[in-house]
Order: sequence, then C-alpha cells, then structure tokens
Amino acid sequence: MVKTDAKLASGGKAAKFDLATYLQQRKLMVEEALDNSLSITRVETIYQAMRYSLLAGGKRLRPILCLATCELTGGTVDMAMPTACALEMIHTMSLVHDDLPAMDNDDYRRGKLTNHKVYGEDIAILTGDGLLAYAFEYVAVHTKDVAPELLVEIMALLGRTVGAEGLVGGQVLDLESEGKQDITADQLTSIHRKKTGTLLEAAVVSGAILTGAPQEERARLSAYASQIGLAFQIVDDILDITATGEELGKTAGKDILAQKATYPSLWGLEKSKTQAAELVDGAIARLAPYGEKGEPLRAIARFITNRKY
Ligand code: FPP
Ligand code: MG
Repeated sequence: MVKTDAKLASGGKAAKFDLATYLQQRKLMVEEALDNSLSITRVETIYQAMRYSLLAGGKRLRPILCLATCELTGGTVDMAMPTACALEMIHTMSLVHDDLPAMDNDDYRRGKLTNHKVYGEDIAILTGDGLLAYAFEYVAVHTKDVAPELLVEIMALLGRTVGAEGLVGGQVLDLESEGKQDITADQLTSIHRKKTGTLLEAAVVSGAILTGAPQEERARLSAYASQIGLAFQIVDDILDITATGEELGKTAGKDILAQKATYPSLWGLEKSKTQAAELVDGAIARLAPYGEKGEPLRAIARFITNRKY
C-alpha cells in the first residue's frame, strides 16, 4: 500500500505523503508494464529498436499522471495501465523523431545514444511510426473493465493530442521559430501548449475519462494539467541553461546554440522561476475539492518545479 493511505496509529492523523517513494513505486510498475508490452523474444530489428527507446528510462511522468488521476477519480491502476503505456509510447516516439538530424539532430537521450545513432535514420523514423501505431493498438486490445464508448473517447483524445492541434503542430511551430528574434511570450506559450502541454493534459484527462468522470471534473483536472504543463516547459528551459548534460541525460545548452526563444531568454532566469512557481500554485489550488486524496497530484506539481533533470 502506498503511503497516501497510511494513517498514523495515534489519533488517525494522515501520514505525510512521501513523493519519492510514490514516484519510485509507480515508475517500477510502469517499467514492468512497458517491458511486458514489447516482447524481448522478438529479435527483428524493428522490435529491438522500439524496445531500445521505450525502455531507456525517463521520469515516466505521463503514465504516472494517468494512473494517479484514474485512482483519484475512483478507478484502479490496472484499468489505466494500458493507456499509461500508450502515453509513454507516444512520448518516446516524439522524442525519437525530435532527435533526428532533420529536426534537432541530437546524439544523446535519456543518457544513451539516440535511436538514429544506433539504428540509423531510416530505422529511427520507422521506430517512431511503430511505437505510435502500437500505442493505439495497445489501448484497444489491453484495456479491461472500461466501457467501449469511454475507450473510443480515449482514442480520440490521443489522436487529437498527437496531430496538428498537438505534438505535430507544436513541433512545426517550434521548428519555424528557430533563429527568429521576435518571438513573443504568447507565441512561445502557444508552441509549448501544443508541443508539451497537450500530452501532459491528455495524461491527466485520460485517467478521468477511464472512470467516466463528469465533464466538470475533467475540466478541473484539465486546468490543473494545463498549468503544470506550462510550468514543466518553463523549468525545462531553465534546466537547459543551469543543469549539466549528465544530469539531463541529453545535451545541455542546446537552446542557446539553436537560437531558440525560451522563457529565460525572454524573461530572465528569476522571472521564469517565479512564473513556474505561480503556475504550480494555481494548479494545486484546482485540487482543493479533493482534500487529502489530491496529495499525489499536488506533490507531482511541486516536483515539476523542484526537479533537477
Ligand atoms: C522535445 O522538445 C520534443 C517534443 C516534446 C515533441 C516533438 C514532437 C514531434 C517530433 C512530433 C512527433 C510526431 C508525432 C506523429 C507525434 P525539445 O526539443 O524542446 O526538448 P529536448 O531538449 O528534450 O529535445
Ligand atoms: Mg529536441
């Protein structure tokens, strides 16, 4: 049992929520499910390449958010795990493509050589395609105890999240903004809402859809996710300047080299930190109706600004 539910023996007072233990336990569950999702016995190149990137580690924040929201709204980890895995497959494929020479041309991801450095550009493109297709198949085939019409909603949400309104559209805007000196904070926010925010939002909202949560609740959780999504990106921009490549598991300082507009380049480091903290406070305020049950999502929001990688 995770410590959220633990009560102190004396007086029935709730024990302090231990985020590190919670994240570690959830990450282990997600790692196991991802490992099982792609059989190690498939020796063909494409399966090896898909496993290479999918099992390369990472914070697993998106799957953990999906599991947490599903539980918060009355569901179980088992109900949410296929969707959680699909979210990580989509996230991983977007990073494999983002690292390609045609895009960011990166050599390291999650502390390992990027997919195209190991398997070649052609296979890396197909690795991304394979993971994307498998994400949808995986949700459809493996989700248990969820009504079919809710599953259709999940698939539609995932499709919208990946497409021109989400990751793909955000990446195009991001590529087009490179080297431009006149990007405004509003334009930057719009890029990041699509490129990063939509998938984090989908992670949270999908957890609520799985339990058939009412629209009002989905909207509240979606607002929470939108604020942590933007805070996440601001912190990413800050870490690109302040953290080392070793800490990040990828090349640091790339934004300045690529002349990318970032929050620190527009606002400076201090204002960027304050803005991220305000967004996290706003996100946490949305969770007030949940009382103590909302503690995992509250703690994850705080983790977003405190993280070092
Ligand atoms: C990392 O951003 C990249 C993303 C968050 C998403 C990129 C999206 C695509 C490549 C579209 C993928 C295609 C489909 C079909 C979904 P970053 O370069 O700012 O961060 P980094 O420093 O971690 O590389
Ligand atoms: Mg990149």
